Amino acid sequence: MTSPVWHPFTQHALVPEATLITHGEGAWLKTGKSKLLDAISSWWVITHGHRHPKIVEAIKTQADGLDQVIFAGFTHQPAEDLARALVTIAPQGLARVFYSDSGSTSVEVALKMALGFWKNKGEDRTRIIALEHAYHGDTVGTMSAGARGVYNAAYAPLLFDVVRLPFPAAERERQTLDQLKAAAANAAALIVEPLILGAGGMLIYSADVLRDMAAICRQTGTLLILDEVMTGFGRTGTLFACEQAGIAPDILCLAKGLTGGSLPLAVTLCTEEIFAAHYSTDRSRTFFHSSSFTANPIACAAARANLEIWRGEPVRERITALAARQEERLARFRGDARFENVRRLGTITALDLKVPDAGYLANVAPELMKFFQARDILLRPLGNTIYVLPPYCVTAAELDLVYDAILEAAGKFA
Ligand SMILES: Cc1ncc(COP(=O)(O)O)c(C=O)c1O
Repeated sequence: MTSPVWHPFTQHALVPEATLITHGEGAWLKTGKSKLLDAISSWWVITHGHRHPKIVEAIKTQADGLDQVIFAGFTHQPAEDLARALVTIAPQGLARVFYSDSGSTSVEVALKMALGFWKNKGEDRTRIIALEHAYHGDTVGTMSAGARGVYNAAYAPLLFDVVRLPFPAAERERQTLDQLKAAAANAAALIVEPLILGAGGMLIYSADVLRDMAAICRQTGTLLILDEVMTGFGRTGTLFACEQAGIAPDILCLAKGLTGGSLPLAVTLCTEEIFAAHYSTDRSRTFFHSSSFTANPIACAAARANLEIWRGEPVRERITALAARQEERLARFRGDARFENVRRLGTITALDLKVPDAGYLANVAPELMKFFQARDILLRPLGNTIYVLPPYCVTAAELDLVYDAILEAAGKFA
């Protein structure tokens, strides 16, 4: 019988069968017969490797105590401890932690916090400013903030308009900043993925322009929302990408790597000022958002264990070493005419295979994925952009497998 499962971002007419995965271990996923090197950290979530023993242990222990409880009017230790720990490590000024369960919901919450802030202050600031090529999730609000394209064209009637700034590529930084200045005077918030736009094609921009964008927000009072759903927990070389620009946002979204990638959990952190704007005996000023599994205790316990791993293990050293290894592997592609925009930020590398139909729907993308899978490697190119975003436990030899396969793919597809 065919499976009744409808998979995400999957055209079932072209991909009739999904590969059954039975186990995960370190950088590897096991299928019935063979194994796959997880070179994209299972959609960018796994940080230390699959089934880190300390996270597995924390999950088991918590499951033996409290599995789930309504989070409005009730609380539990894992959520309390985690929130305190997050406030300690977060960029300065972020004092409050709101829990949810995915990257998209963390961003929806951020957008609602921004609008609620201005409404409760009695100011008519409702416009959201966002970047060209942005991706913030697949719910209606996050699709609205994200770039428009084939993946949300059918839902366009549901989406709200935002002010769209040009992507701040090196030669266009001034244009981006000028347009931000013009729009920020009475906007509610600017939302950006700091330093690298993930699903938009692993597009990197400078820490300087991020710092300048933050300065414009400060000058105009526009709230700065940083979507660190992908960049958080070390991907860009620092715990949070915004550290590289020396800035702190008003609102910060974290998900994916928060639990080391083990369980779904997200947080939206905000300043005391934003919390205070909602703090009132007038119930109409409440922050109206929840989901059934808000702050699930088992997921919070996993996240606490993740932070313990960051504290107790040489994670930063691993990340620095991985970044250097990634850079070494890129060297042979830099002069290769079959590729362009060979780039790296922290532990993430990306390179564009030259094809006539470059872009998200490039015909080569599904072919590449099949090609890599046949070589026991999980890579899922974004159109003609091949990127490598591995867990931090990946070894030099494992990386060689990945880049050897990419080189071989160029011989076949470029
Ligand atoms: C920057 C960014 N924001 C938000 C999301 C949405 O996260 P989720 O898929 O957990 O809803 C993603 C997912 O890839 C992302 O990369």
